[in-house]
Amino acid sequence: MHDKNRGIFSSKIGYVMAAAGSAVGLGNIWRFPYLAAKYGGGTFLLVYLILTVTFGFTMLVAETAIGRKTGKSPFAAFRQLDSRFTFIGLLGTLVPIIIFPYYCVIGGWVVKYLWAFLFEGSTAAAADGYFTGFVGNVGEPILWLMVFMAIVFLTVLLGVEKGVEKVSKIMMPILVVLTILISVYSISRPGAMEGVKYYLLPDFSKLTFMTVVAALGQMFFSLSIAMGILITFGSYMPKEVDMEKSIKQVELFDTGIAFLAGLMIVPSVFVFYNGDQSHLNAGPSLMFITLPKVFDSMGMGRLVGVVFFVLVLFAALTSAIALMETVVSSFMDRFSWTRKKASLIVGAGSLLLALPSSLGFGLWKDFMPLGMSILDFFDFMSNSVLMPITALVTCLFVSRVVGVSAIVQEVEISSAFKRKKMFVVFVKYVAPICLIAILISSVLNTFGIISI
Ligand code: PHE
Repeated sequence: MHDKNRGIFSSKIGYVMAAAGSAVGLGNIWRFPYLAAKYGGGTFLLVYLILTVTFGFTMLVAETAIGRKTGKSPFAAFRQLDSRFTFIGLLGTLVPIIIFPYYCVIGGWVVKYLWAFLFEGSTAAAADGYFTGFVGNVGEPILWLMVFMAIVFLTVLLGVEKGVEKVSKIMMPILVVLTILISVYSISRPGAMEGVKYYLLPDFSKLTFMTVVAALGQMFFSLSIAMGILITFGSYMPKEVDMEKSIKQVELFDTGIAFLAGLMIVPSVFVFYNGDQSHLNAGPSLMFITLPKVFDSMGMGRLVGVVFFVLVLFAALTSAIALMETVVSSFMDRFSWTRKKASLIVGAGSLLLALPSSLGFGLWKDFMPLGMSILDFFDFMSNSVLMPITALVTCLFVSRVVGVSAIVQEVEISSAFKRKKMFVVFVKYVAPICLIAILISSVLNTFGIISI
């Protein structure tokens, strides 16, 4: 009996840890704050929260339950349930193939900043123009990108994920504490209250269609849904684990860290630019421009900067490993390659794909597909186009092919399904209808056919 309980406990933690490890990453600390800053602060936050507890929850349940029900990874799971739908697994694999390369570009920036705080000090890293000087350079960002990628590559190749998991079990709580401390510091600066208000109070005049699209894309990205990862994690989840509760914990953890990261960064923009809101539009560079200034203004700026970027690096690594691992294992399954061969090919291919995203901030900055930087373009294609498509077909698959009741039953094996009604309504109607509407209008909007 005792043994069994132990087993159950560690397995439950296993799912939550694995899902949280892949969920919490650059998406929370780097991406969420710049989107919140850009798309109306409190308005974005509210839309994001509503989407997470409804849409996000529905997708998390659907994917985890498909995994646990079949006990298989995405390809095999869809094939087993209905072989006509194996393509959903394929769609899902395309997402990490696109995300992984540009994720490593940002990972490289994190390593660079860690280096800068270590060896150049916080004042240098916080100087105006430091970031643009760095990304405008051709070779340097590529060098750091390669450093980051090499760490991920070696981990996946050697299969030392277990070690990384152990380390991140310690690092994650420290990251939370540090983020809380830095946010308290940043919101207690004179002038920060304006920023806190901007971040927390929704202003519905700022609610645009793009706010919803951006929040939806962020939700997919941050929770690592619509790409099959959770099907795999679900397949490792023992039948007696309370699925709904585990999923809620993952959501809470992921959203909590994103919320704090926003609180740390958005108000500081108001402080350092004297309330000038134009800096809220900085996009991908936001974290690298304002945070160093916050650190520099603190007593022990260099130390805080070093600790902070070490922690972010770890959060980024666990996610990057999950991303690369998904691609590598799909290639191994699909082409019967060895792990070594698959890792080498995926590594080399991803490096090539990452180069344009990196060069897009310097040498190639005039090349703007759909009016975005190259990195933003890849990011848009995966999060606002492919992920909603994958989510849509997954919902249709659940309601038309597997049957909602089969999923509900799977959840109920371990416990009562408290939000069952909402899940059913969302997976059957709300999610597909909204996804279709959003997809069509966002594509038309981006191509300039309509303007919303
Ligand atoms: N969720 C991760 C983050 O927030 C990114 C990621 C996306 C990881 C998809 C795995 C799969 O950084």
